[in-house]
Amino acid sequence: MGKALDGVKILDFTHVQSGPTCTQLLAWFGADVIKIEKPGTGDITRGQLRDIPDVDSLYFTMLNHNKRSITLDTKNPKGKEVLDALLKHCDVLVENFAPGVLDRMGLTWEYIHKVNPRMIVASVKGFGPGPYEDCKVYENVAQCAGGSASTTGFREGPPLVTGAQIGDSGTGLHLALGIVAALYQRNTTGKGQKVLCAMQDGVLNLARVKLRDQQRLAHGPLTEYSQYGEGVPFGDAVPRAGNDSGGGQPGWILKCKGWETDPNAYIYFITQAPVWEAICDLIGEPGWKTDPGYKTPKARLPKLKAIFARIEQWTMTKTKFEVMQECNKVDIPVGPILSMKELAEEPSLRATGTVVEVDHPTRGKYLTVGNPIKLSDSVSEVKRSPLLGEHTEEILRDVLKFGEKQIAEIRSSGAIGGTEKMAAE
Ligand code: COA
Repeated sequence: MGKALDGVKILDFTHVQSGPTCTQLLAWFGADVIKIEKPGTGDITRGQLRDIPDVDSLYFTMLNHNKRSITLDTKNPKGKEVLDALLKHCDVLVENFAPGVLDRMGLTWEYIHKVNPRMIVASVKGFGPGPYEDCKVYENVAQCAGGSASTTGFREGPPLVTGAQIGDSGTGLHLALGIVAALYQRNTTGKGQKVLCAMQDGVLNLARVKLRDQQRLAHGPLTEYSQYGEGVPFGDAVPRAGNDSGGGQPGWILKCKGWETDPNAYIYFITQAPVWEAICDLIGEPGWKTDPGYKTPKARLPKLKAIFARIEQWTMTKTKFEVMQECNKVDIPVGPILSMKELAEEPSLRATGTVVEVDHPTRGKYLTVGNPIKLSDSVSEVKRSPLLGEHTEEILRDVLKFGEKQIAEIRSSGAIGGTEKMAAE
């Protein structure tokens, strides 16, 4: 059996993180992703945050698996010819340039649609149409503009960004879904369409529960927020809620054995209503099962801080894994705070292909995150990222069927790089 997206050809104009996340997913599902890079430099992340001199950074390698790389100066007339041939050949153009860049390259929607009416043009931008549409945007800008930062952190502290790249990788994920939907619709219409995913919109979508709470505020305090129990009045916007659960079952992060020296000796503990009695037994407070002051979720809401403090007395006597083991036995939902070191070493994640070791010709072996979306009949294999321009000749010859004379002309025009692969090797 082949791959889910076998036969889909992607002209990949993406760079940095948001766009590459999207095209990497499409490549994992079997699409042929041809990444166009500027001769000489390529995707700027190749050289960013380098841990080994003159070797593609992990930033780049971990976002560009299973792709082919062609170096092409799209502003060179010969380069434009190659680009036009690629436009005719491919099904989807994916880009995350700053606003206006694609148009300046001459790739307006009208032009692309004329060259290939079936072409889907998928874009990540920082903002959708409106006052900020011309702005350049990076991850943390999106987290701030999309409502995540204002609702993350502790009430007493400043807004916080999160380590999960919800602005970049989150938007790339949204865009991939938009592309697959547009490909599906093209089966009936025969025509391509534009797919736009703004990073602000992607973050807001992921912060949906906070817009829910904004509207609930109009009808009274948010009783599941611990500030309610602490008697702190609410303002007119959703506050930062520390480690409060975003759902209807109260939760908090609690210390476990070793917290004094291990910054990750903590566990997320959820006092889910259906297992309240099991929690009381486990922590040695059986009286709370029948005490009217604790028996119902409503009665507990104003006392959550004290309740979690009592549970923490129990969790501090055990490691996070012991807490997890004991809680799982009686169906109490808890989550150990796992460090990146622990995740990298976790055998079950290796077994499922979520954490994968990859070999790279200039870097050697490194770890990456494989496809988190598992299809039973289209299993993703993680193949190393391409060296800069590694597939330039192969694409001109085998994909675009250019003859040797034509390739020589393109080469002598300076439109393609050529030596990068050798330099890298
Ligand atoms: N050949 C010739 N020129 C090329 C080229 C190629 N193969 N590939 C790119 N370029 C040129 C572009 O034409 C552009 O030139 P121009 O401004 O003279 O028209 C230039 O390279 C750089 O494009 P730009 O996208 O503006 O890069 P940047 O480094 O200035 O900005 C971002 C980076 C991420 C801020 C910006 O691309 C952006 O806001 N993207 C949308 C939001 C986004 O995805 N952000 C998250 C990134 S993880």
